[in-house]
Amino acid sequence: MSKILIVLLACLACTLAVDGNKGACQTGKYTDVNVDWNRYLGRWYNVAVSKSFRYSDITDKCTLANYSLNDDGTIKVDNQAIKSNGNLNKALGTATIVAPGHLKVKFSVFQPVGGNYEIVYIDDDYSIVTVVGCNGLGFLGYSDVWVLARDYKVSQEKINFALQAAQNLGFDISDVNLAGISACDSF
Ligand SMILES: *[C@@H]1O[C@H](CO)[C@@H](O)[C@H](O)[C@H]1NC(C)=O
Repeated sequence: MSKILIVLLACLACTLAVDGNKGACQTGKYTDVNVDWNRYLGRWYNVAVSKSFRYSDITDKCTLANYSLNDDGTIKVDNQAIKSNGNLNKALGTATIVAPGHLKVKFSVFQPVGGNYEIVYIDDDYSIVTVVGCNGLGFLGYSDVWVLARDYKVSQEKINFALQAAQNLGFDISDVNLAGISACDSF
């Protein structure tokens, strides 16, 4: 292996290590939540998100997702966010249900494996949910935590409670930010 490649790999590893909420990557082991995916469909606002989150930028505002059923039983993922330049950005994906609280999400046919999307908490009303995504292998692994709510004006107490569920499982929630939800007012 060339020196340059080693340096590049080391840089990538340290970037991910600093970036991701490492330490709680046990994909498929903490999915106790039995999600009724029909109740889960529809619009959710991204009310809190890890800085390392791969599918949005820290400056994105009013990030939301709309889940609907595809004819083949997969779930259509329709994400959108307002970018810092004011433009609306959309990303379409497909989620496959792999376990009661576990989806694999792909945003491109070129994506070799779907990203893990695991639900570790949902309230009885299906009004707020905590999702963790644990991806990558070994020391290159990284994890994200994010909270989705039906109403972007959900209370901070509820958001904190939802984040606690991830923290209880060993996730580092110290870099989780509110995701520009006040911008949803003008949307
Ligand atoms: C969600 O997507 C479905 C299917 O495309 C659409 O019918 C529905 O109106 C959308 N809902 C929202 C709130 O955007």
